[in-house]
Amino acid sequence: MIKKIGVLTSGGDAPGMNAAVRAVVRTALSKGMEVYGIRRGYEGLITGDIFQMDERSVSDIIHRGGTILYTARCPEFRTEAGVEKAKAKCEELGIEGLVVIGGDGSFRGAADLSAKGVLCVGIPGTIDNDIACTDYTIGFDTAMNTAMELVDKLRDTSQSHDRCSVVEVMGRGAGHIAVNTGIACGATDIITKEVPYDLDAIAATMLAKKAKGKQNFVVIVAEGIGHTQEIATVLQEKTNIETRATILGHVQRGGNPTLRDRVEATRMGYYAVELLEAGKGNRVVGIKNSEIVDYDIQEALSMKKPYDEKLHHIAEQIAF
Ligand code: ADP
Ligand code: F6P
Repeated sequence: MIKKIGVLTSGGDAPGMNAAVRAVVRTALSKGMEVYGIRRGYEGLITGDIFQMDERSVSDIIHRGGTILYTARCPEFRTEAGVEKAKAKCEELGIEGLVVIGGDGSFRGAADLSAKGVLCVGIPGTIDNDIACTDYTIGFDTAMNTAMELVDKLRDTSQSHDRCSVVEVMGRGAGHIAVNTGIACGATDIITKEVPYDLDAIAATMLAKKAKGKQNFVVIVAEGIGHTQEIATVLQEKTNIETRATILGHVQRGGNPTLRDRVEATRMGYYAVELLEAGKGNRVVGIKNSEIVDYDIQEALSMKKPYDEKLHHIAEQIAF
């Protein structure tokens, strides 16, 4: 029976990580385990920035964005020596199991540490929803709602000026935030890496829509495309419609988590501790068809996440 576990957050933060930390801590305590919080991801594990957590350590955090454990990217942990240091620290403190809340990179690290004998369970936490083994990652819903509210505000001003608003939303490697925000905001066009696009064609459809009375336009661009200002400039040149580019940026990573993020984070945090209790490591927790599931980390990392092309095409088809 595992008696001591640790919990850390790693990679980019995401709203709902605190709810996951809370669930891990309270579940472990309810099972009679000791729980240690590790600050700044793998960096804290290597340097020993670790503290014992009790019931009150996670009071008043379920509704807060960010992560009370802080997060970091730790290059040293990518090395054999770094993983050895982390393992030694776990042994020194008697930490037998670890819950790692983060993305694919953090799970690769968790696999390395699992191979050294520290049982690690990953919980998917990233606003991008780009982790293949799960339908849902903590932070996605909050980020999309933030993006939606901000695009709504941009729409007010672009409507008043008969302008086109080109808005970049986050998602370095995936267009999931873009396509959903685009649908929710009634975007004229959505530009993501997953679906080929052509600025000449977009400009031509904008002009055709303008000829039929449309006066303002919203184009959503996924961050991974990489040149939002240039897209705005080109569209303005090609259409003669006054255009502004807005990059929403890190504001999408903040804010109080939505109900969905709090609930899914709690379900996954609870389940992660159950896995450790059962002596299982090298696993990633996920949600598939609303059910909680878990996978071997290597298997999880080899999966490919589908992009919802259907949603993308529906958005474009009904954007008159
Ligand atoms: P995310 O977990 O959101 O994908 P990163 O890719 O930045 O974020 O990874 C977070 C941390 O996980 C890194 O700073 C590093 O410490 C660790 N990590 C990332 N990739 C690997 C890897 N291939 N092997 C071991 N550890 C890794
Ligand atoms: O992975 C989450 C994410 O917010 C991406 O959408 C974005 O590209 C990246 O992190 C930004 O990372 P950083 O906080 O290092 O600027």
